[in-house]
Amino acid sequence: MAIQNLTSSSSSNCNVAVNQDGGDDDDRLCSEPQGEPEGETAHLDGLPAPNPNGYLSRESRIERAWAHWKKLGQPKFIVAPMVDNSELPFRMLCRKYGAQAAYTPMLHSRIFTETEKYRSQEFTTCKEDRPLFVQFCANDPDILLEAARRVEPYCDYVDINLGCPQRIARRGNYGAFLMDNLPLVKSMVEKLANNLSVPVSCKIRLFANFEDTINYAKMLEDAGCALLAVHGRTRDEKDGKKFRANWSAIKAVRDVMRIPVLANGNIRYMEDVQSCLEETGVEGVLSAESLLENPALFAGYRTVKWVSGSDDICVDGKLDQADLLVEYLKFCESYPVPWRMIRSHVHKMLGDWFRVHPTVRDDLNAQSKLTFEFLYDVVNRLRDLGVRIPLYVKDSRVERVSANGFAT
Ligand SMILES: Cc1cc2nc3c(=O)[nH]c(=O)nc-3n(C[C@H](O)[C@H](O)[C@H](O)COP(=O)(O)O)c2cc1C
Repeated sequence: MAIQNLTSSSSSNCNVAVNQDGGDDDDRLCSEPQGEPEGETAHLDGLPAPNPNGYLSRESRIERAWAHWKKLGQPKFIVAPMVDNSELPFRMLCRKYGAQAAYTPMLHSRIFTETEKYRSQEFTTCKEDRPLFVQFCANDPDILLEAARRVEPYCDYVDINLGCPQRIARRGNYGAFLMDNLPLVKSMVEKLANNLSVPVSCKIRLFANFEDTINYAKMLEDAGCALLAVHGRTRDEKDGKKFRANWSAIKAVRDVMRIPVLANGNIRYMEDVQSCLEETGVEGVLSAESLLENPALFAGYRTVKWVSGSDDICVDGKLDQADLLVEYLKFCESYPVPWRMIRSHVHKMLGDWFRVHPTVRDDLNAQSKLTFEFLYDVVNRLRDLGVRIPLYVKDSRVERVSANGFAT
């Protein structure tokens, strides 16, 4: 397990694994845990004792679900799970800019149980990386439990991915394709709820039929799910840009559920967060695509796209995506991750900048092996070419923030 410790973390903590074909920095592996992370996740004073191998009554489970959520500080602004994109350095960057909790990328439960290299490359964390949801895809309760046991000391929820709509999930029979096999879903949730000391959460999509969605959500709660994240799109609505998330359906789920519920979809800047919380009544929101472009979203910054066409008066926030990329790269130097993840973030954060000077992007694409030196130089070249695309904040930000109790 690659667990890193923020205070002692540095590249020197990491072993460098060299490929037989000459070595690739993507194969850098991190060291064994430097110590147990601080903070309990399982013990809740004054509540029924944790009973990982037994069965709690429905009322006790719901009480525990809320106590756990409250103990975590009731996070509202949450980094959604993103394969290859919600890895430790990115989570740390988002946390610095207002995110109050985060999901890991989806991990494949079977590969996680079988392969040490997969575990050490794909799951890294540190003691500041909390509250943390570790997400797995699975279709076998025993394998899922085995994978979950390996991460339970390091997280606040073990999450089951029930929403991935991609072809690979259809082939692998997981994610949103388990909506066709609800007894299997139920058995996986029960398995974790009855055997782990950390709560189980689920991330779902909507059924096309409203009643089916409600019954699905209730089934998950009855099976022991302690927190539900609802992506307000159906399995067929894959394109987030084309299909607006259905917040009324999320509200309908929130209204019937007794456990904490999170909303996902169409959170593009801070005002969306506020509207979504008001319209749906959920406990918190998840953001994915918009955070990739703008990891400072939860601190009240917005990209120029959400300035034009809005009634709000916005001003230069004195922060831009290149600043954020440099901070991200520094986190990567402390918490090594595969270069494919870093490359992806460079494209997402500097996408608008590359459109102004595509030759800089061409040079990046031509670079088969990246180095931090090269990437810092990409930023410097863009700046030398005179590019600066600010992130904006609302002019009345300070007053609005304090009036609504929104932390920045
Ligand atoms: C690059 C990328 C990777 C994603 N990977 C996952 C994943 O691992 N697990 C998951 O449940 N959803 C994943 N999603 C879906 C998001 O978590 C989220 O549900 C979806 O993008 C809708 O949120 P948004 O409108 O804020 O983008 C991914 C989305 C993106 C853009």
